[in-house]
Amino acid sequence: MPSSRLVGFYNLRPEERLEQTSQWAALTEQERAILQGIPGLDLPRANQMIENVIGVYGLPLGIAVNFTVNGRDVLVPMVIEEPSVVAGVSLTAKLARTGGGFQAITTAPEMIGQIQVLDVPDPWSARFDLLAARDDLLAQADETDPVILRLGGGARDLEVRVVEQSPVGPMLIVHLILDCRDAMGANAVNTACEAIAPRIEEITGGRVGLRILSNLAERRLARARCTIPLDVLAFREFSGEDVARGIVEAGAFAAADPYRAATHNKGIMNGVDAVVIATGNDWRAVEAGAHAYAARSGRYNSLSTWARDADGHLVGTLEMPLAVGVVGGATRVHPTAQLALKILGVQTARELAEIIVAVGLAQNLAALRALATEGIQRGHMRLHARQIAVAAGAREHEIEPVVQRMTAGGVIRLDHAEAVLAELRQSKPAAE
Ligand code: MEV
Repeated sequence: MPSSRLVGFYNLRPEERLEQTSQWAALTEQERAILQGIPGLDLPRANQMIENVIGVYGLPLGIAVNFTVNGRDVLVPMVIEEPSVVAGVSLTAKLARTGGGFQAITTAPEMIGQIQVLDVPDPWSARFDLLAARDDLLAQADETDPVILRLGGGARDLEVRVVEQSPVGPMLIVHLILDCRDAMGANAVNTACEAIAPRIEEITGGRVGLRILSNLAERRLARARCTIPLDVLAFREFSGEDVARGIVEAGAFAAADPYRAATHNKGIMNGVDAVVIATGNDWRAVEAGAHAYAARSGRYNSLSTWARDADGHLVGTLEMPLAVGVVGGATRVHPTAQLALKILGVQTARELAEIIVAVGLAQNLAALRALATEGIQRGHMRLHARQIAVAAGAREHEIEPVVQRMTAGGVIRLDHAEAVLAELRQSKPAAE
């Protein structure tokens, strides 16, 4: 089995990293070209994806190294504009390797579709009638997607909730549970909900309003765990004990305080979204699901936990809904998303979700490790300074001197970068 422990990957030139990744995933010449954005997402294809297309918009695609998920080494494509995320997860994936890597599990890929029923004369009696007709309604829903059915998915259950009070009075909410297999499932669920809506009106004597999937995908959960031995947590002046204690305390802060939990979870989503985007999945759906799940108790909470096991090792867990697919939507249309799936070597939505949840946990660990010790600014600032230097107009050969002057002075701001650049050009006029 090839190892994802690519020592020195960080220090290579982008072309060299592409070469290593291409060998790892046996990419063709054409696929390499796509990753360099040469044909990539062209206008005709972009035009198939949304309306009123006039162009395409690029973002960096990086490879996170060192990941082992469920005993398999993987290279993880991440699309993100924020510095330090790819480096952060690669570092903590290296730490997690020493404890066996990430374990990840998923529940069945079941999504919830909602049908709102208004003006129901007797909601509790209508609920009874709907549940009595459950098998017929599920069979009707199944007729809408023979492909999912053939692949072993399909309608699984019907739930009926009576909402006694709302700003417009009582309503019935029907939940259709559908196993979407390897699709994210929005289309399948929405189609099935629309198909059974007329029958629901007949049964209830009410009037159907909305028919739409719920992004609170609480039945489609992904869970990850990692165990980090204390000795690998030590760095610079910080002992493993100090770092582990700091991380557990940081976890407790997020568990106790929604203000911190929001930021804590944002860090998790830095990792999650980057892979969701790289694979052409709907990151707004995943974001909505994650935050709604975090608030399901009525108080917004942390999605992860950090504690010490009986041997004193640091153990992290993450649990969140992850509605991602490997078929349909942009995953199929976007050429780079296809390549991301190829590099990941995943065949099913569940395998993809298991890698994504591991990356979320890795990113959480990276953030907490930094925050609980030296702070995040030290690592962040150099990369941030590069971006500021570019924004100030520095050319390739000017970036490094501008970064050096800014980081030495500790002031990293656009106006300062412009001043430093002007100074540099005065002392040494810009060469072409
Ligand atoms: C920054 O993008 C993410 C962090 O704020 C996450 C966290 O605070 O845990 C560093």
